[in-house]
Amino acid sequence: MRIVNFGSLNIDYTFVVSEIARPGQTISSAAELCFPGGKGLNQSMAIAKAGGAVYHAGIIGEDGLFLKKLLENAGVDCRFIKVVEEGTGKAFIQVESSGQNCIVLSGGANQKNSHEYCDLILQNFDKGDYLLIQNEMNCMDYLIDRAYEKGIEIVLNPSPMDEKVLACNLSKVSVFIMNEDEGEKITGISGPDKILDRMGEMYPEAKTILTLGSQGAVYAWKEERIWQESYKVDTVDTTGAGDTFTGYLLANMMNGRPMAECLKYAAKAASIAVTREGAASGIPCKEEVII
Ligand code: RIB
Repeated sequence: MRIVNFGSLNIDYTFVVSEIARPGQTISSAAELCFPGGKGLNQSMAIAKAGGAVYHAGIIGEDGLFLKKLLENAGVDCRFIKVVEEGTGKAFIQVESSGQNCIVLSGGANQKNSHEYCDLILQNFDKGDYLLIQNEMNCMDYLIDRAYEKGIEIVLNPSPMDEKVLACNLSKVSVFIMNEDEGEKITGISGPDKILDRMGEMYPEAKTILTLGSQGAVYAWKEERIWQESYKVDTVDTTGAGDTFTGYLLANMMNGRPMAECLKYAAKAASIAVTREGAASGIPCKEEVII
């Protein structure tokens, strides 16, 4: 069983501000920092740092070659990453003193996927393998349909949520890893328990992991529910915390750990990530994640 993460690679420009700008407001930043990022890259990095094996597929420009190098150095198999003339995706991030963030994306090369490129990647994977996707690149619907046809299990992190996610055939997804807001948009219902009940009705075979920020996370599959509290820390930057959680959860699941343990490792890793600046840069290695 192998995991291929078909996902975004971004250059993150982070602006440190006292409060995230309100509409109509102009503010100054205390610092401008540049980090590797992209939900796809962050999640591959987290899988590798958690001790999992992962292939990364996705597109960058020449300006993003350092992102590929970084993934390679972390042990991610990058043979499927493509380089095009378009510039690499970028994220413009405000991080305020509470650690909360606000992100504007410029898709760049992440939006240059074609059906041919998707087919080229998927032809290397088979029934029983896993495809991890997020919503920061085009062709997500095509990937879901083709992977499902091949019997590849689909893990969806529907982030950032928009109408493209809702247009996909989500009944083909095996595992949803999402936050409460994304869960609300998919089910049309609010409140963690209600969202999970409704997910069970809509997608009875799928496993759902709902992340609840400082309230922790909950796993649901059929009658089973496992709640995981968050670890309390002093937050510096929440960027990439969800990606750290996703990567650690999946790596531990693939390594055959019981779900309650997977959730603990994921929550602990995310709690360490938020004490550090940057998305990928804040992801701890497995030796640091002691539960
Ligand atoms: O989830 C965090 C990521 O979202 C950042 O690294 C940024 O690139 C955006 O994609």
